[in-house]
Amino acid sequence: MECDGKLDMGSGGILMDIWNKPLYETRLGKAYVGDARDLLKYLPSESVDLVLTSPPFALQRQKEYGNLEQGEYVDWLLSFTSDIRCILKKNGSFVLDLGGAYQKERPVRSLHNYRILIRMCDEQGWRLAEEFFWFNPAKLPSPIEWVNKRKIRVKDAVNTIWWFSKTDFPKADITKVLTLYSERMQVLLQNREKFYKPKKRPSGHDISSHFGENNGGAIPPNLLQIPNTESNSLYLQCCRAVGVKPHPARFPQRLPEFFIEMLTDRGDMVLDFFAGSNTTGAAAEYLGRKWIAFEIERTYLATSAFRFLSRADERVVRALYEKLTSNETTETHKMHRPIQLQLIDV
Ligand SMILES: C[S@@+](CC[C@H](N)C(=O)[O-])C[C@H]1O[C@@H](n2cnc3c(N)ncnc32)[C@H](O)[C@@H]1O
Repeated sequence: MECDGKLDMGSGGILMDIWNKPLYETRLGKAYVGDARDLLKYLPSESVDLVLTSPPFALQRQKEYGNLEQGEYVDWLLSFTSDIRCILKKNGSFVLDLGGAYQKERPVRSLHNYRILIRMCDEQGWRLAEEFFWFNPAKLPSPIEWVNKRKIRVKDAVNTIWWFSKTDFPKADITKVLTLYSERMQVLLQNREKFYKPKKRPSGHDISSHFGENNGGAIPPNLLQIPNTESNSLYLQCCRAVGVKPHPARFPQRLPEFFIEMLTDRGDMVLDFFAGSNTTGAAAEYLGRKWIAFEIERTYLATSAFRFLSRADERVVRALYEKLTSNETTETHKMHRPIQLQLIDV
């Protein structure tokens, strides 16, 4: 699939106005309220290094932020991914977090996440660089009918995360995301000769003497164990201060951080076009990357600004929230000037 050049900045009118007035901006990023389908058209071709997002999931039950029926969902999501291909740099990556789901009133899984994967590769020319599984040990059992009541299905505790690219060799460096060596490996590294003899394993795998070298950390697996148990973050404190419900489907910040570190360099551009509470933007800012966020719900994006405050001063938080949410008419964007927020204390 080729880009037809329609994704370039230019045309005037109300959208251009929105583009010139993000709801807020920080030193490295800009957050826009609006439909990603429209806003994506304002990004220049091949301008983004990493697109990382989590769409509204195709769940049975209508979630607060709205979901399409599973049948329509695949086409709907694919209409965005073709535009993403145009704005992504040639060596860029697109990381898509897609939760699984059951079919309506049946203990049978929907195949929508696999259909999306296959159609993106077959019809739009994406490569699947690697699949990741995000294991959230704190995930609650669901659906209650099959798991808790009838006890015929186990707890679904992983999300599939597809890492897509435009070429076979997107920019990537796993040495930036090495993990702590296991205790056993640390002991081995302290005394290689005593604990380790290079030899062929029964599998035929040749473990050479390099195995005992200290590379500064272990290579991470594609199973990312990251609990989603945030309970007293600055974001949550600020939401409580203004009496607004936090976003119901937030990433733990470590999740976007992992991919941003592995797939980009400082100064690169990261986009989340279903930004929600803008965890991706906050992770990018923290790691010194530029970022852009699109979110259709003004309230979600307004509260996301809390992530960039340095502390939860109730008076400041209230004033900021009122400023970002006031006057919800179609002309609202004209009322707001981007607000230069303080950076997170790191
Ligand atoms: C799963 S949530 C993302 C949560 C986010 N990863 C976080 O950490 O907060 C998906 C978001 O996409 C937003 N959304 C749905 N359709 C959209 C559209 N057409 N354009 C922009 N945002 C949209 C929803 O309002 C919702 O906040």
